[in-house]
Amino acid sequence: MRQAGRYLPEYRATRQRAGDFMTLCKTPELACEVTLQPLQRFDLDAAILFSDILTIPDAMGLGLSVVENKGPQFARPLRSGNDIRNLTVPDMVTDLGYVSDAVRLIKRELQGKVPLIGFAGSPWTIATYMIEGGSSKNFSKAKGMLYGQSEQLHRLLELLSRAITDYLNAQIAAGVDVVMLFDSWGGILSHAAYSEFSLAYMRRIIQGLRAADTGRATPIILFTKGGGLWIEDIARSGCDAIGLDWSMDIELARKSVGAQVALQGNLDTAVLYSSPASIRRQVAEVLAAYGQGEGHVFNLGHGIHPDIDPDQVAVLVDAVHELSRPYHAG
Ligand code: CP3
Repeated sequence: MRQAGRYLPEYRATRQRAGDFMTLCKTPELACEVTLQPLQRFDLDAAILFSDILTIPDAMGLGLSVVENKGPQFARPLRSGNDIRNLTVPDMVTDLGYVSDAVRLIKRELQGKVPLIGFAGSPWTIATYMIEGGSSKNFSKAKGMLYGQSEQLHRLLELLSRAITDYLNAQIAAGVDVVMLFDSWGGILSHAAYSEFSLAYMRRIIQGLRAADTGRATPIILFTKGGGLWIEDIARSGCDAIGLDWSMDIELARKSVGAQVALQGNLDTAVLYSSPASIRRQVAEVLAAYGQGEGHVFNLGHGIHPDIDPDQVAVLVDAVHELSRPYHAG
């Protein structure tokens, strides 16, 4: 997670050359370059498309910029029911064609060496940014709408679900091998609200991907940060794998849903602030907790922070390769 990013000096150099984050996303040659950077440095088993979950609202006209030390910000956040009624599903060629172009370029460069993961944000998570205008601590506007103007929120989530389905289908058509839905803010919801405002729409997207993707059956990973309490419901969504953040016991998760879905995760990213010996110990614990056999995709529980030393990531990747071998014997 955040395999490419500011913790890598080569990323910072390319970002500077691009001038700003959105130009980096919108220039396929540069997006391709930063997608491949982590693979040149580490012995990784997959690439993840360099882009952002907020390309969709940007294409809807909200005007995204990513400001240093402030995170993503919209010039025109949603402020009224009218703003929502005026939104339309962006065109995947004229508005978001740069993402498919980047996918095609990356696939050509990868030459089949490792699979490419495409992604999108979940409707709820993208909606929070559109309503708040950027990152938020309390999600007061988004949650206010959830309880006060739920029809408006449903209208927005429905539109986003259609846009995200088209977007992921376009990424699949361009060549991604796996798709991942990031529901970074599902975990802030109540049990009932998660089901109604987040999971229900992700289920629709999964159905829309299955309907369009009859031949290739591209695997779908669903990641809800803070969603550990709900993994049984998530496993029933039709996804192929569940991404787990670091708070969940992966052994327990396997016991409850391991027969239905694969599990991706879930080392605490903060382990990368410790020593190489400690990183190896923590990797060993996650591997042992999942246990013998297939169905585990090792990953961090959330994104790499900009102040993490890349050499620590190299220790992690090598430890995973070495220590996971006994779990796949025979
Ligand atoms: O992992 C990868 O290498 C793929 C690239 C990727 C980015 N964003 C690049 C990025 C992915 C998969 C994302 C997803 C994303 N974006 C999520 C879901 C995952 C999660 O973290 O829960 C979310 C919530 C966003 C929205 C977003 N975009 C935020 C909150 C930020 C600011 C982060 C920060 O630390 O300032 C961004 C910008 C962003 N997206 C950066 C990167 C590398 C940093 C921007 C920069 O270069 O300054």
